[in-house]
Amino acid sequence: MLVSMNSILEHANKHNYGVMAMNSINIEMARAGIQAAAEENSPMIIQFGPGQMGLHAHKEEMFPLVKELSDRVHVPIAINLDHGMDFSIISECINFGFTNVMFDGSSLSYEENLSRTETICAMAHSVGCSVEAELGHVGQAVNEDDEDDGLYTDPQKALAFIKYTGADALAVAIGTAHGNYPKNKIPKLDFERLRDLKRTLQMPLVLHGGSGCGEENLKKAVKYGINKINVATDAFSVAKNAINKAFEEDPTIDYLHLCIYIENEVKQFVKNYMHIIGSNNRYIFDETQYNGLE
Ligand code: 13P
Repeated sequence: MLVSMNSILEHANKHNYGVMAMNSINIEMARAGIQAAAEENSPMIIQFGPGQMGLHAHKEEMFPLVKELSDRVHVPIAINLDHGMDFSIISECINFGFTNVMFDGSSLSYEENLSRTETICAMAHSVGCSVEAELGHVGQAVNEDDEDDGLYTDPQKALAFIKYTGADALAVAIGTAHGNYPKNKIPKLDFERLRDLKRTLQMPLVLHGGSGCGEENLKKAVKYGINKINVATDAFSVAKNAINKAFEEDPTIDYLHLCIYIENEVKQFVKNYMHIIGSNNRYIFDETQYNGLE
């Protein structure tokens, strides 16, 4: 069933586990994520950003698809606009029925980020859509932004930001970055800062740049308070590598079976991920719990 992202993350926050948010740009990826969730009794977040929507994952096509797939399963699924930066696309997604929008004002001044986030929260909340904000800045791995602690999130500033804006979840900068890290590099995360952020904010926290972090970092990040982990690069690599693998196994494979092969590989990747971040078996099917989140 399609639910607000906030309801998923409140539960994860209360019970201290992480939920995967996979950038899913076609039916194979969306169905892989949602099927994995159903099989693992796990919540799941399907998301895409403005660039991905513009090029391929058009919201007019993807939204009805994700809604239909979500309504067929017993586990909670949210659909999120990732990295919304301007009002027009954010309001379009809210009107479309996205159950969360992210406003990424992390490249703006603190004051500008604060006031725009507050406006977007008022707009989204009036129709029951939740909002993810970002404070500090999660940059690009290729620029080694993960090592720049000047970009990291300050807990006291974050507290004031959340009190003023009313955002439902906060993306925090603690040492990850988007995209592929240089070869053999595992980022070093600032877990003390994360612990402090959780203690101060006591709300759902989001880790962007989940790809390439390594299992140990992911587990520790969840332990110290991360509840949503964004994954794009690694998921796209799994899909791409599946193509090579399928051709190696059977050079005559046709397109239909190639699509099925890719979907299965992505599904397996998501299922493994759910075990790492502890979201599996949180929603075992039970008539009496069907509409609830406890
Ligand atoms: P990665 O591509 O590094 O997984 O980052 C994804 C992300 O944070 C999307 O918002």
